[in-house]
Amino acid sequence: MKERTVDVKVGTGYQAVIGPGLLQSCGGRIARASGPCRAVIVTDSRVAELYLEKVRQSMSDAGFSVESFVFPRGEGSKNMAVLWQALEFMAESRLTRTDLVVALGGGVTGDLAGFAAAVYQRGVRLAQIPTTLLAAVDSSVGGKTAVNLKAGKNLAGAFKQPELVICDTDCLGTLPESEFANGLAEALKYGVLADRPLFDRLAAGSAGDRIPEIIAACIEHKSRYVQQDERDNGDRRFLNLGHTIGHAIEKCSGFRVPHGRAVAAGMAMIAGAGEKLGLTEPGTAEEIAAALLKNGLPAATECETEELLCAALSDKKRSGDSITLVIPKRIGQCILHTVPVTEMAGIIDLGKAAAV
Ligand SMILES: NC(=O)c1ccc[n+]([C@@H]2O[C@H](COP(=O)([O-])OP(=O)(O)OC[C@H]3O[C@@H](n4cnc5c(N)ncnc54)[C@H](O)[C@@H]3O)[C@@H](O)[C@H]2O)c1
Ligand SMILES: [Zn+2]
Repeated sequence: MKERTVDVKVGTGYQAVIGPGLLQSCGGRIARASGPCRAVIVTDSRVAELYLEKVRQSMSDAGFSVESFVFPRGEGSKNMAVLWQALEFMAESRLTRTDLVVALGGGVTGDLAGFAAAVYQRGVRLAQIPTTLLAAVDSSVGGKTAVNLKAGKNLAGAFKQPELVICDTDCLGTLPESEFANGLAEALKYGVLADRPLFDRLAAGSAGDRIPEIIAACIEHKSRYVQQDERDNGDRRFLNLGHTIGHAIEKCSGFRVPHGRAVAAGMAMIAGAGEKLGLTEPGTAEEIAAALLKNGLPAATECETEELLCAALSDKKRSGDSITLVIPKRIGQCILHTVPVTEMAGIIDLGKAAAV
């Protein structure tokens, strides 16, 4: 099967390459983007078992001097303590300003390694090798990196674009079904935002055989939003569809509900609230909920409104006394809707009621 390439025209521009068997040749590909140098591969404990040796070998063969920093897998590692350990490791490995960080893993790894690459010596180069569907369709592209603080998700971070994104679709074969579904939640987000045919394909439950095409479509959508608005002040905010309530669900569950499932429920709830507010075409919420359920994702949450409200109000999408929500108008088109924070409890209640 041939590989696909998406040109992401942000900053100096970079490519996302998607296809099977790419890990074998990743060293040569990264060398062409950055030249051989010293490199630290950042990866989690599970991905290290599966793919670290292959990447390390390919990079060594291409002339890199490679060290690896492995952290315990899971969202619980996306914090300041692990970031600090990664930075200390880079210093011990004598990484210099012309060297490279490689993020090998899911969105947690990409966010953590990307943040480390952004701040180590005020910025070293970064390559992203996403190994989850979620990281492939969303988090490896666009340059947002972060760790969580006690008060909420992604509250400390930086913008850091990679030199290259290499997405070996063979890696998705070892993903547990539930992790695959998490990625489908973000893919469905792109359908609801801007791509009715993509939504229909995913809603029919037939993603499996067209994954490279779906990943390329999502990256194209994402790069379009990011090109227009790298720093998240304008149209990039559309990418937050489902995320205000989604991040609140993650936080309220003590991060036991993973990001993709939380965003799924957040998307269904905001569509339900949108219908009740007269902003969303009737039937849209039901269609979104059906597509989510078909893909093994939730369309509702058990978290209480009060808890969700408290978490949503410390979300960084809040700006002073107002918060900008992304609300589907219909499948394939969304609007930005700014409300006073005092209306947020009512909106969460409407979303919860619609999701019952
Ligand atoms: N920066 C962005 O733009 C952006 C966008 C969306 C999400 N995110 C962030 O991404 C994170 C979620 O990412 P995620 O869902 O990839 O989580 P993750 O990185 O924790 O990966 C999920 C699990 O899958 C395992 N895994 C990874 N690749 C595997 C493979 N090929 N085979 C088997 N197991 C594998 C991991 O070890 C982990 O246990 C959240 O923190 C979210 O905030 C960031
Ligand atoms: Zn997300």
